[in-house]
Amino acid sequence: MCPPTHFDIDYKIDPWMAQAGRGSVDRARAQRQWASLVAQVQRSRHVDFLEAVAGAPDMCFTANAGFVRGRDVVRSNFKCTQRRVEEMPFADWFCSRSFTCHALPRQVNFEGAGDAVLDIQRQRLWMGHGMRSDIEAASWLHHLLDVEVVPLRLVDARFYHLDTCFCILSDGRLVYFPPAFDEHGIAAIEAAFAIDSRIAIGATDARNYACNMIDLGDRVLLASASPSLQEALAAGDIDVVFVEMDEFIKAGGSARSLTLPFIPPLSLLKPSAST
Ligand code: ARG
Repeated sequence: MCPPTHFDIDYKIDPWMAQAGRGSVDRARAQRQWASLVAQVQRSRHVDFLEAVAGAPDMCFTANAGFVRGRDVVRSNFKCTQRRVEEMPFADWFCSRSFTCHALPRQVNFEGAGDAVLDIQRQRLWMGHGMRSDIEAASWLHHLLDVEVVPLRLVDARFYHLDTCFCILSDGRLVYFPPAFDEHGIAAIEAAFAIDSRIAIGATDARNYACNMIDLGDRVLLASASPSLQEALAAGDIDVVFVEMDEFIKAGGSARSLTLPFIPPLSLLKPSAST
């Protein structure tokens, strides 16, 4: 995680930033929200930190640093030129900690864990494309990480990263916002997740970035959830913990976007209950 030391809306690369407007972040409040999120995550996970860089206001959204599996990191190639300044500091962080860094060709856009969601139950990687990441990234991820990659085209600009509209819980269930996907994506999702393991959320939960939750197994951290979503989560014995995230939602990100999970290699992960 990276502190929001320089976080602000300095440019408009997503509809949320366009709506909130330049300079609209209350940075002290953002810092408090981020610190509470860190404290919540640290209750059950180790957190490593990366220093914020001046002139990189979105760097706190570390989900976009790359995709990590085991000691392998597939580095991001940001589509938005405004965020390319983050690429070197992220790469330096990984390389100085003896990760094996893989770079995609410059012309292939890929925005890291923001667009790559690992599905442990099905031993595959779901990849969002069409907004920030290019479909060409799918075959690179497949070859570099030796994992099946299922691309999902994103069609609603407000949900421009996969992690804003698609979240696989530790129990294997999916929380997702169907209108963010095209018909092929919906078909792929419905083929993989049985009806009782799909939680389709409505427009209000989607706008509140409910899918951008942090899943900690028996606990999820998210900004808000409707009673029906809370009920669906509780049915899986998951504690719902609310974290204030409105300063970050102004920039188009919430809890999950502020973290980059380090995932062991698939071979070390055992799926839990079958779905
Ligand atoms: N303003 C940032 C952008 O548009 C927000 C990134 C949110 N990250 C995410 N993984 N959803 O790139």
